[in-house]
Amino acid sequence: MRFGHFDDNQREYVITQPNTPLPWINYLGCEAYFGIISNTAGGYSFYRDARLRRLTRYRYNNAPFDFGGRYLYLRDNDTGEFWSPSWQPTRTRLDKYECRHGLGYTIIGSSYRKIEAQTCYFVPLGETLEIWKFQVTNRRKRPVKLSVFSSIEFCLWDAQDDAANFQRNFSTGQVEIVDEVIYHKTEYRERRNHFAWFACSGKLAGFDTQRDTFLGAYRGWDNPAAVERGKSFNSIAHGWVPHGSHHVKVNLKPGETKEIIFILGYHENPVDQKFDPPASQTINKKTVKPVIAKYLDRKNVDAAFKSLRRYWDGLLGIYQVQSPDIHANRMVNIWNACQCMATFNVSRSASFYESGIGRGLGFRDSNQDLLGFVHMVPARARERILDLSATQLESGGAFHQYQPLTKRGNNDIGGGFNDDPHWLILGVAAYLKETGDWSILDEPVPFENAPGSEQPLYEHLRRSFNYTLERLGPHGLPLIGRADWNDCLNLNCFSDTPGQSFQTTTNKDGKVAESVFIAGLFVLAGKELAAIAKKRGQSEDAERCLAEAVKMEKVICQHGWDGEWFVRAYDDFGKPVGSKVCDEGKIFIESQGMCVMAGIGLNDGKARLALESVNQRLATKHGIVLQQPAFSKYYLHLGEISSYPPGYKENAGIFCHNNPWIIIAETMIGNGNRAFDYYTRINPSARENIGGIHRCEPYVFAQMIAGKDAPTHGEAKNSWLTGAAAWTYFTITQRILGIRTEFDGLRVDPVIPARWKGFTVTRRFRGNTYVIAVKNPKRKQRGVTKLLVDGKAIAGNVLPVCPPRSGPIRVEAVLEG
Ligand code: GLC
Ligand code: GLC
Repeated sequence: MRFGHFDDNQREYVITQPNTPLPWINYLGCEAYFGIISNTAGGYSFYRDARLRRLTRYRYNNAPFDFGGRYLYLRDNDTGEFWSPSWQPTRTRLDKYECRHGLGYTIIGSSYRKIEAQTCYFVPLGETLEIWKFQVTNRRKRPVKLSVFSSIEFCLWDAQDDAANFQRNFSTGQVEIVDEVIYHKTEYRERRNHFAWFACSGKLAGFDTQRDTFLGAYRGWDNPAAVERGKSFNSIAHGWVPHGSHHVKVNLKPGETKEIIFILGYHENPVDQKFDPPASQTINKKTVKPVIAKYLDRKNVDAAFKSLRRYWDGLLGIYQVQSPDIHANRMVNIWNACQCMATFNVSRSASFYESGIGRGLGFRDSNQDLLGFVHMVPARARERILDLSATQLESGGAFHQYQPLTKRGNNDIGGGFNDDPHWLILGVAAYLKETGDWSILDEPVPFENAPGSEQPLYEHLRRSFNYTLERLGPHGLPLIGRADWNDCLNLNCFSDTPGQSFQTTTNKDGKVAESVFIAGLFVLAGKELAAIAKKRGQSEDAERCLAEAVKMEKVICQHGWDGEWFVRAYDDFGKPVGSKVCDEGKIFIESQGMCVMAGIGLNDGKARLALESVNQRLATKHGIVLQQPAFSKYYLHLGEISSYPPGYKENAGIFCHNNPWIIIAETMIGNGNRAFDYYTRINPSARENIGGIHRCEPYVFAQMIAGKDAPTHGEAKNSWLTGAAAWTYFTITQRILGIRTEFDGLRVDPVIPARWKGFTVTRRFRGNTYVIAVKNPKRKQRGVTKLLVDGKAIAGNVLPVCPPRSGPIRVEAVLEG
């Protein structure tokens, strides 16, 4: 079952029926102002931080699921009939409906009784505002008199307080209305120097700023009193619920089109220039007026839209592929890259499954996200790395998250996850490989943001590595701490109190429970750090890291190998988790993927055996489940993982984040057929035809697909903000297509399905554009035997870095392996 189709030329996904199984969303904004928009114009906006600077209100877990958003109403003033051109909230049956989600914009168009409407929503680059460019056309044979009403619900900035503190908030709301602009200024009179504004290019027939007046008592968004009667109340919010609604009358001759531009913006004034006149309580609008005027001018709106499209063309142009597989092509060329930018921008904070108040930017998550966006925005990747590492603790440990607005770390969703520090090493390595900017390692970076504690970034990496060495358990494996990558494997938690958070509740001291996963990660990070140290001429460090990695490898082989796969962990009693001896949870995906990625077992058959076990025990047609058998009951000593019903989330769900680890492992043993097959199972585009089962957007990866133990096997959840974005992108681009960044150049090492005749990648890298044609005449899965650069054969398969030149560098790689 499908609900739309890809338009790859336009780089859009086109939804052709509004009642998708779940809201199918898109992100607006890519710098400081962000919006989430669904296919029916639902969603909300914020400036930088979805909790602390929320512009518009959104009610999660609503019924219908998606309610509240950037709504417009059209009213036929001759008949009194009204409808929503984006279907919601009136849900009038439209004669035609089409939503085009593009890169950083969404266009929703519809037709009802021969009145066509189209709204293009986007955030101009460099601005803290969003534009709704609305056009309406009369296709009737007679003239028509219409009313257009806009509607947004202002949020009182702190989204958490907004949803909880009514005894205060119902008395604080304030607005100003001047010309065609509604200013929302709640709390501006006191400690805020920011306000929101909602402008309209049409001449106002009226306005409303008090929600309950606009709606009328006991009415919902589907039939606001103002719209029904065709006339605003000109209400002014004093307390209660500030709202923004413009009323514009539009008369159209047959065939005529008119356009109205609505703009919702965020603006800050210098603290000493908040008011105008200074002694008043009136917002000083001198600073914002030029911006408003600029975008009420259609020319500037169109120019801004064009430059947004150019911006995305530039980002996506860095890596483009033409392969025989359309699903891989469109994910690499368009949507997976777009999703990586969304995870860069908002991490796990704001989606339709992340409320924007719970989670900021995770240390572990943000470092992994780098893998997916570092090539597109290297300068911002650098900044992100420095921000993240500035929250690191002197011990080398990490706060689990930080808030984007304050850039300060906190333990709100737990601390002491012993895998956290290593992801910084991998993130920095990815940055160095992309950019060759070794200067970042000498940047002075504080610990816990404390001035005076600065050390070179390189020292932070050393501490990350040492953190594990200082925390080894009885088998010589790393202690797990609160948890490792799997937040829900809580071996020191022993929570028996309902409602207690597995992530934050006080844990046991934890001197016994160990993680084989962290051990694998330690080896991987250790090898990277050794290579970095060597390049810096710090050979002692390099040798030490390698020696420790080798030592850990031995420990893994001795205590972390179960005979046919890698053990997952040891619990607080010193008993194995993820072993044949367990009743449930005998085999886990994470340690198989991570240990093989670290190169463990490649030479002695363990890697192959582990991957065979994964194939036989964990792989399903919808992806690879996290472990088997699923936990059928709650285990006090395992924690949250066993709190989920079998087949969901970490309890044997298909966690798309770690499927790529197995895929990479398969490429490492040269198994291109299987690697690509696994990739395709979770590729949302390849799942488009089973939209009724998959249910989430077919253009982005979801965090999870229900596993085989779940009654809804194959159903995706938690789309958009997931480590699956970066890892799948990295895996397909660098490991399957095999155009891989390394410290000294670009390696060409594809591991592809034998049926492929070849493919072409265009890759911009360190100032040059490489056009790489891979040929596979003998239908191999791996093994570049010939590499021609501008027609000349070179030895090996690494394209060396060379000075930037104007034309592309033509490369031919032949797989004859
Ligand atoms: C979520 C978290 C991530 C964690 C994963 C597994 O996706 O954001 O940090 O690794 O769950 O528990
Ligand atoms: C819950 C989720 C897990 C997530 C964690 C982070 O435990 O199940 O996926 O990583 O919360 O707070």
